[in-house]
Amino acid sequence: MKPIQVGLLGIGTVGSGTFKVLQRNQEEIKRRAGRGIEITMVADLDLARARAAVGEGVQVVNDARAVIANPDIDIVIELIGGYGIARQLVLEAIAAGKHVVTANKALLAVHGTEIFAAAHAKGVMVAFEAAVAGGIPIIKALREGLTANSIQWIAGIINGTTNFILSEMRDKGLDFATVLKEAQRLGYAEADPTFDIEGVDAAHKVTLMSAIAFGIPVQFDKAHVEGITKLAAQDIKYAEQLGYRIKLLGVTKRKAQGIELRVHPSLVPAKRLLANVEGAMNAVVVNGDAVGTTLYYGKGAGSEPTASAVIADLVDITRLHTADAAHRVPHLAFHPDAMSDLQV
Ligand code: HSE
Repeated sequence: MKPIQVGLLGIGTVGSGTFKVLQRNQEEIKRRAGRGIEITMVADLDLARARAAVGEGVQVVNDARAVIANPDIDIVIELIGGYGIARQLVLEAIAAGKHVVTANKALLAVHGTEIFAAAHAKGVMVAFEAAVAGGIPIIKALREGLTANSIQWIAGIINGTTNFILSEMRDKGLDFATVLKEAQRLGYAEADPTFDIEGVDAAHKVTLMSAIAFGIPVQFDKAHVEGITKLAAQDIKYAEQLGYRIKLLGVTKRKAQGIELRVHPSLVPAKRLLANVEGAMNAVVVNGDAVGTTLYYGKGAGSEPTASAVIADLVDITRLHTADAAHRVPHLAFHPDAMSDLQV
């Protein structure tokens, strides 16, 4: 079977990571997906940056619509970000019958209901593992691993930038502005870092988790959102003296009155696991009625961790929609043809 062809819109930090990881692990990925997966076309306004990231053999254009119009492209990855042109392009890609993979939590938290409805009507997938908690497969956990449960609550550190800022302020006594600059340099922060520090990015993510966990429409406008900008170094110090750490938590909870959705700085007892999640790491705690409490931990931002989630979605779509029947059951990635490679 010929490789599935993927078009990439926007090749910044995550896009170039996606390209690199797909190349590096192409044989394993092909075995798991049942087909090769190739990025054959990239659209970016900065052609020089795009060419440098992908090298020869990939068509580079500055018009995203040329990717969507290409009949050979089966999946479009949207890594442009924001609500404006990204919304339009995602809807156009869906209308053109392409599956879409996106890391765009802002877009889905605000326009998800419209986008998912369009995808449903067209019979294509919109996959967004990379939109929440970077490399942690939390969407898959909520949608698949915990599917038997009535989810009771979710609480998480889901913004790497603010967790990095709070950790560095506490450990190194650095000031807010200095650490924010470092988070931007390391590629954790959003293009507009106010989304990170005002809690908006975390609210986008908890909105998406809430929709999956509780089967409700995405309702970002209902979230209570408070960031870390009002915190002083003194607050962090006092919390420490009292045996707590301040963490920006995203929380969603099933209550008698409805579903609670909130982001705000919280005092977490220092001996709790969540209190010890440091730097740009993320952690999500999910409580389900059958499973009890479960914890997911990992890198919540950055090039290859986020690429890991983007590629997981590419593999899912390839396996479920275009590969042979044997690959629709993931554990049959131990395909008989591949058995000879195994050294036990
Ligand atoms: N700005 C985000 C963060 C990137 O800091 O977590 C990953 O979504």
